[in-house]
Amino acid sequence: RENVGILGMEVYFPKRYVDQAELEQFDGVSAGKYTIGLGQSKMAVTDDREDIASFCLSVVQNFMEKYQVKYESVGRLEVGTETIVDKSKSTKSVLMQLFKESGNYAVEGIDTTNACYGGTSALFNAVQWCQSEFWDGRYALVVAADIAVYAKGNARPSGGAGAAVMLVGPDAPLVMEPGLRSTHIEHLYDFYKPDLSSEFPEVDGPLSVVSYVRFVDACYAKFLKLVEQKDGVTHASLDNAADFFVFHSPYTKQVTKGLARMSYIDFTRQPDAPQFEAAQAYKDLPYQDSLTLKDLERTFVGLSKSVMAKKVAPSLLAAREIGNSYCASVYFCLASLISEVPPEQLAGRRIAMFSYGSGSAASMFSLRVRGDTTKMAQNLLVRQRLESRAKISAEAFDQLMSLRESTHQLRDYQPTGDLANLFPGTYYLESIDSKFRREYKRT
Ligand code: ACO
Repeated sequence: RENVGILGMEVYFPKRYVDQAELEQFDGVSAGKYTIGLGQSKMAVTDDREDIASFCLSVVQNFMEKYQVKYESVGRLEVGTETIVDKSKSTKSVLMQLFKESGNYAVEGIDTTNACYGGTSALFNAVQWCQSEFWDGRYALVVAADIAVYAKGNARPSGGAGAAVMLVGPDAPLVMEPGLRSTHIEHLYDFYKPDLSSEFPEVDGPLSVVSYVRFVDACYAKFLKLVEQKDGVTHASLDNAADFFVFHSPYTKQVTKGLARMSYIDFTRQPDAPQFEAAQAYKDLPYQDSLTLKDLERTFVGLSKSVMAKKVAPSLLAAREIGNSYCASVYFCLASLISEVPPEQLAGRRIAMFSYGSGSAASMFSLRVRGDTTKMAQNLLVRQRLESRAKISAEAFDQLMSLRESTHQLRDYQPTGDLANLFPGTYYLESIDSKFRREYKRT
């Protein structure tokens, strides 16, 4: 039962996207606000044919076919999502339809929710199940998925949609490294979904942004101490704590700012280190002020630029082109890293993962690349698959959003979306009956 971690991965995202530069024009905001200001190039969109259960059905079935894993070999399946449909009934229970033919209903796990953090909690649970006395020798599957949609307004361009699935078990090529996990959880109203009649969250944008960086600080500072203990080094920092840093990406600019905060934390731990000469003015600044000071942010974005290029940038491919997929976001970043960096450059390396979910919960943990990631990369092919999508106009996107809004939670509903807009092998919503029961089919 050694080296428990991720044995394989698959992602699913819709076939259609809207271009962020075109959306800037359509929304009448200044050119560059979404593309440079948020760092987003495209946003994944879907219509009334897809919901959270169809996303999860698609990603799991595609994974099982690609990796030729048998349903009877799975003993745990857990879904991390904040996209709510049946409220008391879990998305995991809907996925049990896939197990029907195998006759395997002995599958532990349900859904786990806290905004974008549910997938990470599910992953921790799965790993710990495999390490526990209750493990029965079978695999665990972890699904992280969401459809991220916002009301019209400034948050809308930070939406997106996607699903990721991971197979968990011993002797994994990506091992969850023991001893390297830090967590920070607080009661906050930065983003939540109190209105169950709407698909949209209630968002306090500025609070969510400050909370994200504050939670980076807390998790990273603790993570560095754990690295120092584990590796026996005196000064852990961005240089030596990990070879890659993978973040939850609401939009990629927030990741740049998250990394800058890690550089700032390095500075507070070693203010006299030669690389921080340009930051001396911030030596006595109270911590609270550091969170919102634009000059400080710019300084540390500058100081962390080379780390950004080397240790972060390859992980941002899908995030830039899909947008926020909430629970799936950090795992899309992991999938991009595996897909973009040649396996020989990943071998033996440490990947530090930062997962943040509003409300708020965050963890930083390590995945050590122990084995060959070639098979995962060949199955993921993130870049090629992103390139095979179809663009829709900003007007069409607006109409799709209105369609989803006006048909949200209807009973006796027949979805209208054209099936030609789905990738082959995608599950879709066939109908919703008078008792809100949903039926799915596959293209
Ligand atoms: N060219 C270049 N940059 C521009 C331009 C332009 N023409 N116009 C604006 N910008 C920059 C701004 O200067 C700003 O940069 P900064 O953040 O470095 O200061 C950036 O674009 C965004 O502009 P704002 O005016 O701050 O954006 P706005 O307030 O309209 O919306 C927000 C941003 C709050 C993040 C919004 O999208 C939102 O609420 N999103 C949902 C919440 C969210 O994603 N939070 C993140 C963590 S929590 C989570 O994952 C859900």
